[in-house]
Amino acid sequence: MAATRNSNLDETFYRGADSFFTANADLGLTFDDVTLATLYSDILPSQTKLDSRLSETLQLNIPIVSADMDTVTESRLAIALALNGGLGLIHYNMPEKEQLGEVSRVKYHVQGLIQDPIKVSPDQVIGDVLKLIEEKGFGFSTFPVVDGKEKLVGLLSGHVVKPRYASKKVSEALTPRSQVHTVTKKELGNDPIAIADKFFTEHVGIHKLLVVDDEDRLHGLITMSDVERITQERKAQFKPARDSQFRLICGAAVSATRNAFGELDRDRILDHVGALVERGVDVVAVSTAHGHSKGVGDTVKVVRDAFPNLPIIAGNVTSAAGVEYLADCGANVVKVGQGPGSICTTRVVAGVGIPQMTALYVCSKAAAEKKISILADGGITKSGDIVKAMTLAQGVICGGMFAGCAEAPGEVVEIGSKLYKQYRGMGSLSAMKAGSAARYGHDKADTTRKVAAEGVEALKEACGPVDRVLASLIGGIQSGMGYLGAENLEQLRAKARYIRVSPAGQREAAPHDVVELKTRN
Ligand code: XMP
Repeated sequence: MAATRNSNLDETFYRGADSFFTANADLGLTFDDVTLATLYSDILPSQTKLDSRLSETLQLNIPIVSADMDTVTESRLAIALALNGGLGLIHYNMPEKEQLGEVSRVKYHVQGLIQDPIKVSPDQVIGDVLKLIEEKGFGFSTFPVVDGKEKLVGLLSGHVVKPRYASKKVSEALTPRSQVHTVTKKELGNDPIAIADKFFTEHVGIHKLLVVDDEDRLHGLITMSDVERITQERKAQFKPARDSQFRLICGAAVSATRNAFGELDRDRILDHVGALVERGVDVVAVSTAHGHSKGVGDTVKVVRDAFPNLPIIAGNVTSAAGVEYLADCGANVVKVGQGPGSICTTRVVAGVGIPQMTALYVCSKAAAEKKISILADGGITKSGDIVKAMTLAQGVICGGMFAGCAEAPGEVVEIGSKLYKQYRGMGSLSAMKAGSAARYGHDKADTTRKVAAEGVEALKEACGPVDRVLASLIGGIQSGMGYLGAENLEQLRAKARYIRVSPAGQREAAPHDVVELKTRN
């Protein structure tokens, strides 16, 4: 019993959110300004659960969302995020049609099933296939062979795709249709991986299974190595985030678009959201720099009226009044953050914005009253920041943490033997020219006015696959929860106690007085 009793002394120094933030009401605090006090714990980090409900119909298995920025979230990153239990918000700095395509790619991503495999035709020669492999840099050399009507003719095995056979026709070298293992789309049913897994066990030495329809037209390819990877992943603690039809979840940003007269373009907004809904989008995000504004509120209202059940994220705000306003307009989730982002210059340029922990506390109080969720958007640079943010919010949005990942858009560039990827603010001049001007209250066609950029163009060190980044973030969150004896995020919010950290305390918190041999994560 003594182990769980709080002493009065602890309460004097380490305070719950209401007492702590009220006592510090005259100072804007951010992540590094505070630290969390440990509590008696009988919870191991590995036992903690990270699921978070953002709205009645939007549930995440980890509370991490990737930012709707054009150097962060397109389908590849959104797929990786959802596979890990989180959510990707596809940015809108691209033509609407392209954004719809990106959403479809996430919604129709069947893990392990390559839906549109690279095919060859019987009339090609092996030399053509070798050229194709070299040009496209394929890491595989086995190809389904189809005729002009996409009907399966056979399988060209990697064993025969050799320069020695370059002049031979594919039709002479292929394994004929009668000997190729196939399964119909119908037979795959709801759990293609389980069917394929059983097939590979029963057919020793076969590593590829082709999917056909009733007319024997090719519809996909499943490889044994993918199935093995997925079967391993299924044992993972955090399951992919899926909708009721077992598809990965996906969000998309929409703009508070205006027409030539400067009025909100309701028809265009509704057409855009309608098309996204048709593609199966799970949530839309009305993303702007100033969410407590008529344009954003009216956009949320228009979308809410037309789509009563569609979860809506809106923002950004840093005040209780802002949260209340967007909640009253119909938002289910409000993004909190003005100027904390790693590429943001809003506070420098406009002189506005609130340090993130104070903003989150204020907004969390209003959100609780309105029974909506908030997302801590921007400024996350380490897993400890997420733990702190999650004491007040239902999720975090990260841009910079993911911009260097292999799945983020853009090429890797080498500078001085180090690899980097581009990362730019959506309020940077180049991003606004590409389409995000409305997010900052500007018109991209308006060249007569001087427009102040509120973001910078930068580079992030390339950091490999997002799975790796997420694994270390999740590990850190679970550690934090273990220290606070919190089994789930609700308990984390209820139990958190804070204290401010002096500049010397901040220095003490990071490695110091040593020569680091291995950098952290
Ligand atoms: P991090 O710190 O994760 O922040 O890189 C990502 C968030 O920053 C916001 N954002 C901007 N804010 N000017 C700003 O003031 C910008 O150009 C800009 N671009 C993105 C956005 O909320 C994002 O999620």
